[in-house]
Amino acid sequence: MLKIITRRLCLIEKKYVYQQAYSTINSEKKYSNEIQILDKKYRTDEWTNVGDKIIEKLNKNLHIKKYHPLSHIRERIVNYFYKNYPNKWGNPEFSVYDNLKPIVTIEQNFDSLLTPKDHVSRNKSDCYYINRDLLLRAHTSAHQSELIGMGLNNFLVIGDVYRRDEIDATHYPVFHQVEAVRLCTKNEVFKNVQGSGGLEIFEDNGKMNEQKQQIHSLEAVKIMEHELKKDLVGLVQALFGKDIKYRWVDEYFPFTHPSWELEIFFNDKWMEVLGCGIIRDEILKNAGATDRIGWAFGLGLERLAMCLYDIPDIRLFWSQDSGFLHQFEFDDPNTNVKYKPVSVFPPIINDMSFWLPDGKFSSNDFYDLVKEVGGDVVEQVKLIDEFKHPKKGKTSHTYRIIYRDMERNLTQKEINVIHKKIGDISMADLGVTLRSK
Ligand code: PHE
Repeated sequence: MLKIITRRLCLIEKKYVYQQAYSTINSEKKYSNEIQILDKKYRTDEWTNVGDKIIEKLNKNLHIKKYHPLSHIRERIVNYFYKNYPNKWGNPEFSVYDNLKPIVTIEQNFDSLLTPKDHVSRNKSDCYYINRDLLLRAHTSAHQSELIGMGLNNFLVIGDVYRRDEIDATHYPVFHQVEAVRLCTKNEVFKNVQGSGGLEIFEDNGKMNEQKQQIHSLEAVKIMEHELKKDLVGLVQALFGKDIKYRWVDEYFPFTHPSWELEIFFNDKWMEVLGCGIIRDEILKNAGATDRIGWAFGLGLERLAMCLYDIPDIRLFWSQDSGFLHQFEFDDPNTNVKYKPVSVFPPIINDMSFWLPDGKFSSNDFYDLVKEVGGDVVEQVKLIDEFKHPKKGKTSHTYRIIYRDMERNLTQKEINVIHKKIGDISMADLGVTLRSK
């Protein structure tokens, strides 16, 4: 999401006050200008767009829940870094933070990471804002600067992250990330280079180019890049086996340069598994680490777990069903299992067409509303048709909503009620006009 180019259909920020949607969905909140999240109340304002269905997820902590598939993979990744980086007494160099609060400031999520003020990733249509100052972290990178400022040089941050996105089998508004940061001094960078006495990590009058930042020496960057890539290839090999096919793709992130993405070839296609790069020196300087160069990466746990265990739908991670959870009840996280669907219930497919309002409209607002009203019976929402009326100049969107429950059969009757409610609330809160079919 924090790449410069985003794959979203619509990046235009919606002007409407989300609180309206909020007040319709949760009528008791109509006149309230506060929301309760975990054990605290927060002021709301025109940026507020977080609803109850999202807030409910905040204390679930699937990544540290015993026997949960996401927790197994977390453990495997942590073990990999513990083993790869012992200190001289044999204890792990990396410290692990898997319990940091997901409510962060704009400063943490964006400013401290040098995300430009007008960057699309800050849009209301992309994030869950509590108010204009606070949001649910959109990535675990939000904690980089804070932890570096505490003096840490090697750490992992693992936690839930929140993004407004499309809805399908691989996207869910909440998922889990693992972030790693490693900072090295000059001596650490060059420790394996013979006769490296004269080598430096910084250089005066340097130039920024594709390979490095202005302030860094090319030799320091190349050593860090090599270590980072070797570790990450080692990690995917530890997870998927030595024969896994992979490739590096150049990328852009506001907080690293150079930056890359690692893709693996899985089930006949290339799949992105993580983003990484050399941390921008300004971030380190701002956090007080003045004599170091560092790398960082961030990866999504769900995606890895779906591949490793053959889990077909991202909603299953939230299932309370013992048919799902039982299959992961093992103590050794390296246990190799494939998920066996207990049973698959049929979907119910309903379409909805409407004219867009004259003002701004973002598909993500609609996706969110559908999720908020329909909850987990919504399997997928996709835009299947879009056209502009030649005379009226109005645009029409048709969305297909696929309803399916993971644990039982749904009836058309109960879906009609939900579908109608989605239509009514979309008219009231998004300003759309439903088209009769
Ligand atoms: N935070 C980035 C994301 O969520 C991933 C990343 C982390 C990239 C650290 C570079 C360095 O997309």
